[in-house]
Amino acid sequence: MVASLFACRAGAARYVYLVLGVVLVLWSSIFALVSPQMRMLPPFVRSPRVPWKENHSEASCSAKTYTPLFSPSSTQLGIASEVYLISLPGRQDRRKQMEHLQAYKEINWTVVDALDPSDISIGHIFERIVSQRSLQPSRGHWNDLGSVFRWPADINAIAASTEYLGASGSDLWTSTNTQDSRHTTSSSISVPPHPNITCATQDHSVQSFKPSLPDWMILTAPKISCWYSHVSAVQKFINRVNTTPADVAVFLEDDIDVEKDIEMRMRQVWSSLPQGWDMVFLGHCWSNESFYSALPSSRIMSPLYDLPTQSRIHPSYSPRCTHAYALSLSGARRLLLHLRYPPFAYSRALDQAFSWLIESGRLRAFSVVPSVVIQRKVLSSDIFSGSGVGSAWREHLVDGVFGT
Ligand SMILES: *[C@@H]1O[C@H](CO)[C@@H](O)[C@H](O)[C@H]1NC(C)=O
Ligand SMILES: *[C@@H]1O[C@H](CO)[C@@H](O)[C@H](O)[C@H]1NC(C)=O
Ligand SMILES: *[C@@H]1O[C@H](CO)[C@@H](O)[C@H](O)[C@H]1NC(C)=O
Ligand SMILES: *[C@@H]1O[C@H](CO)[C@@H](O)[C@H](O)[C@H]1NC(C)=O
Repeated sequence: MVASLFACRAGAARYVYLVLGVVLVLWSSIFALVSPQMRMLPPFVRSPRVPWKENHSEASCSAKTYTPLFSPSSTQLGIASEVYLISLPGRQDRRKQMEHLQAYKEINWTVVDALDPSDISIGHIFERIVSQRSLQPSRGHWNDLGSVFRWPADINAIAASTEYLGASGSDLWTSTNTQDSRHTTSSSISVPPHPNITCATQDHSVQSFKPSLPDWMILTAPKISCWYSHVSAVQKFINRVNTTPADVAVFLEDDIDVEKDIEMRMRQVWSSLPQGWDMVFLGHCWSNESFYSALPSSRIMSPLYDLPTQSRIHPSYSPRCTHAYALSLSGARRLLLHLRYPPFAYSRALDQAFSWLIESGRLRAFSVVPSVVIQRKVLSSDIFSGSGVGSAWREHLVDGVFGT
């Protein structure tokens, strides 16, 4: 096209085209300079999707005594009304350490027993994943978005409501006496080997299995048990009596260290959160969570803190790891509605699901940077069987309870 412009013989026209060309080049270079900054805040930060404030359902409208935003109990870790510790009952080594942390920080957490990866219900879940995948055959590896898969249209409305969320979707995949089976399977009853299947990507792209695939692409029993255990904890939070929209829960795994002054740091960043946030990562791995600009802070941190060690909060980019995150009540409901939707349920590692839901705009998530909770990785990992104490991502706190 440019060549044909310059082939034009009329002198005046050539001049005009030349000027046009220069303008075009200038314009595109200006745009190239501006566009990275336009990327610095994802759209959801400025345009809240379903602010729960706007549509209080009958329950809160009729109740004249609206609970204040910060009830006296909302003080755990500076921000939470509830804290859940997800932990395998068999890992007494980790429980001992977490008791130390609990005593030091005076956290009143609820322990949620994680599902043992050898539990028989893991086999049931595998069967359901396989049958779900045969219902929705994936065309090719990557590019089948939209054609077959659709999120339910009512997720936002239900998340923002106070409607009771009874068991549905993949909640029913283990309904065959999970409680009873839990204690009978650790003995030597032989469980058939789990099928070799891969972790889905995007909404439901499924690649076929090859033994040469890396660990992170293979769907294993520990990954399924991790998904199940976190969902159980999230359900505990949602289904409490007397919930209020201002409730916040923090979910922790049992191999963590936290900043000694985590309360101060959390209160400091919390004031910047926009209304209608779903999720906040207190720690993450494998991602540059400073990718988007930090939210402007209305509170100044004490000058005693060095600039690099001050806590900031950024819109999440692609956070991995599930060792420490907070959910608002509507965020917890929105997350659960996604995680239990059968075509998506148990389709991959939980952190891969989180980061896809964030990248695709389904969750409004933020990350505290630098992390205020990290994985210690001093005791063996239950998820990464091959590599001893877990993946290679390492981080340090400024002043952790365990000195990590
Ligand atoms: C609030 O709910 C009413 C009735 O369900 C609906 O008509 C209205 O569009 C909703 N408003 C918003 C902002 O979602
Ligand atoms: C700890 O939390 C539980 C449940 O959230 C509550 O019943 C109990 O009173 C709390 N204990 C203290 C000491 O705050
Ligand atoms: C899974 O793949 C491995 C090879 O990577 C093979 O040894 C094993 O038998 C397969 N298991 C099943 C259930 O197909
Ligand atoms: C993270 O992203 C920000 C913004 O793009 C960039 O300035 C920074 O250097 C990145 N950090 C790392 C460790 O890559």
